[in-house]
Amino acid sequence: MGLLSKRALSIKQFQLNSKIFACPICKQQMNMSDEGKMSCPSNHTFDVAKQGYLYMLNRPVQSMYGKELFESRHKVIHAGIYDKVQKAIAGEIIQQNSVILDTGCGEGSHLHRICEQLDGAVGIGIDISKEGIMAAAKFYNEQLWCVGDLANSPYNEQSFDAILNILSPANYEEFKRLLKPGGKVIKIVPQENYLMELRKQAFADSEKESYTNAQTVERFKTAFAHVEVKRITYTVPLEVDLVQNLLEMTPMGWHIEEKESIQLREITIDLDLLIGME
Ligand SMILES: C[S@@+](CC[C@H](N)C(=O)[O-])C[C@H]1O[C@@H](n2cnc3c(N)ncnc32)[C@H](O)[C@@H]1O
Ligand SMILES: [Zn+2]
Repeated sequence: MGLLSKRALSIKQFQLNSKIFACPICKQQMNMSDEGKMSCPSNHTFDVAKQGYLYMLNRPVQSMYGKELFESRHKVIHAGIYDKVQKAIAGEIIQQNSVILDTGCGEGSHLHRICEQLDGAVGIGIDISKEGIMAAAKFYNEQLWCVGDLANSPYNEQSFDAILNILSPANYEEFKRLLKPGGKVIKIVPQENYLMELRKQAFADSEKESYTNAQTVERFKTAFAHVEVKRITYTVPLEVDLVQNLLEMTPMGWHIEEKESIQLREITIDLDLLIGME
């Protein structure tokens, strides 16, 4: 598919879902023209890029996440290492035709793979990193991708049945504004044995070897009226050529000096799945 037709396809999808979009500057309803301009009545306008995503930040943002990090995440996710996590998330969104927002979606694979498991789901991904969203738009035509700030998101209130927040920063006031009545926030946070084999070799005897996310879980519990916590723990075999990707996919890997000396045969995924409802 050429770039032009990809943009045209995205414009159609944005038009079909335009009632979801609110201007990030003045909060008014937005409209998508046939030419690919998303604009509000005050004429704040955002263009669909040739790769098919919408850039909706109104200030420049320096992201610490670059192209290589998202390429590495893409390879690791495609190797199936997070399959059980995606399945668990999809299992929480059983309703047909759900509208799902992934906040801090990165290169988009989680959202894409979750939507594939659901009937008629509409997936929208937002990330502050243009590199992440460019990768998402390159790989996946079925979802809608926006560069934007999850704390000041370009969407109307009560627009989403589910809001995902996977290993990313959160803003619960904003998430509650965006949820439809009865909707769910689904947040994934690392637990103490997450990537344990990697941390053991890289940071033996230092405080990075272990960590806790108790505070994040507590904050989540105070933010929502109804909260469920489910732990997902498993260990999967790791192909040799994925080790370097695993090192490059998190900021943790940037601080490791002798990356080549690290050898891993398997890797442990240990995450909390937090579900919040009003
Ligand atoms: C560790 S990555 C996780 C990405 C993806 N959810 C995954 O699991 O592969 C954290 C992501 O949060 C994004 N992020 C950080 N602050 C953000 C903000 N204010 N608005 C939107 N995205 C943000 C980063 O750009 C990055 O892609
Ligand atoms: Zn506006």
